[in-house]
Amino acid sequence: MSALTATDVLRPRSAFARATTGFFLRCLPSIFALVRRVWPIPHLGNNYAVTLYDDVVEIFATDTTFGVTYKAKLDLLMDGEPFILGMADGPDYRAAIAALRSVMRAEDLPILAGRVEEQAAATVADAGGRLEVVDTLVRRISFDFLGTYLGVPQPAQGDLRVWATRLFEYQFVSIDAPLVAEVREIAPALRSHIQAQIEQRRAAPDGRDDVLARCLARQAEGDAWFTDANIRTALTGMIVGGPPQPPMVVPQALEQLLRRPDALAGAQEAARRGDDDMLHNYLMEAMRFDPLGPGLPRVTLKPCTIAPDTPRRKEVPAGATVLACFQSAMMDGSRVTDPERFDLNRPAGAYIHFGHGVHECFGRHINRATLHLMLKPLLARPDLRRAPGRAGHLRKNGAFAESLTVEFG
Ligand code: HEM
Repeated sequence: MSALTATDVLRPRSAFARATTGFFLRCLPSIFALVRRVWPIPHLGNNYAVTLYDDVVEIFATDTTFGVTYKAKLDLLMDGEPFILGMADGPDYRAAIAALRSVMRAEDLPILAGRVEEQAAATVADAGGRLEVVDTLVRRISFDFLGTYLGVPQPAQGDLRVWATRLFEYQFVSIDAPLVAEVREIAPALRSHIQAQIEQRRAAPDGRDDVLARCLARQAEGDAWFTDANIRTALTGMIVGGPPQPPMVVPQALEQLLRRPDALAGAQEAARRGDDDMLHNYLMEAMRFDPLGPGLPRVTLKPCTIAPDTPRRKEVPAGATVLACFQSAMMDGSRVTDPERFDLNRPAGAYIHFGHGVHECFGRHINRATLHLMLKPLLARPDLRRAPGRAGHLRKNGAFAESLTVEFG
């Protein structure tokens, strides 16, 4: 079957692969706790990992030494066109960020928040007291509101949720041969789909005010950054880098709340009171216990020393891979007070969910405005509880959340 018409968002995985990956991911917090104490910068050959908060932040902040590693894979997705995630800081990167900020604006955030909350409320109202959270709630909302906002509709010949999630998996998680084969089909199809939107909307503007319409307006005004290639690449990057992620972290956060009755009750109370800032705090703190992934990779652009002036100092040659383990950093008791405690009063710096430094998530303001609202109408319902049996517990498929079903009054 062609990857283009696949209907399962997550790739099927053997029971053995699920069990081993699941076991490893469940052990990871304990492994990190041990490693932070006995070997905080472990390495094997040319691969290094940093596990302490200070070192993780240093790696992200020192982008002239620790460069991003994404370009080679991005080239397959973007047909060689540069996207911000794969670029070093410099005039081209800054021009791209400025251009994108001019079409993805702060004043859009309340509108996006309103759409998310409205769709979440409708989904919960239609659910009949039982709801699968990963796909039916969070994934649908994420793809709907971001697709509409960006101006990227569903393609006629496939499903954007499948396409973007496969490309996301290739870009950030895995690189096995079957996945690469799927990516070789999906990436050109997604680019053609977006290019077709560009051409249709340019030929027949329909009055919609979305990111694509704004890009085309800048192009018509003669802004040299807004070539078709740059518009297509930016929209492709946002679709691949954006909506696949809330269906991972938001259900994971709900699972963490369900494990902590006091925290769940507090989050429900905040949802009912309409205290969105407090609800957001609950989400950020819950995500700390099961974040997006263990870490983000960087490559050393020159020989360097990690954590100089400390007993753990480590000389690293140029060309080494360094994994900045933000999952571990957010549990580092030397910088995050009493890390095992669910604490709503942590400083913002305790959270590294969206990276740090130059490549910090471009969608972070959208995340701040919307992620907690995906759960708000559900949390506001009385008698929220796990569905009976296995369905009521978060199930993962590799790095991805796969299903979590709850019931409510
Ligand atoms: C739960 C939601 C999200 C999470 C957890 C998340 C996480 C991240 C992280 C950790 C990075 C840094 C990567 C690195 O430094 O190596 C990043 C970068 C990025 N994110 Fe997000 N993200 C989310 C949602 C979004 C959304 C909704 C969008 C767009 C609409 C988006 C667009 C981007 C882009 C374009 C970058 C690259 C920024 C750059 O290189 O300057 N993300 N994201």
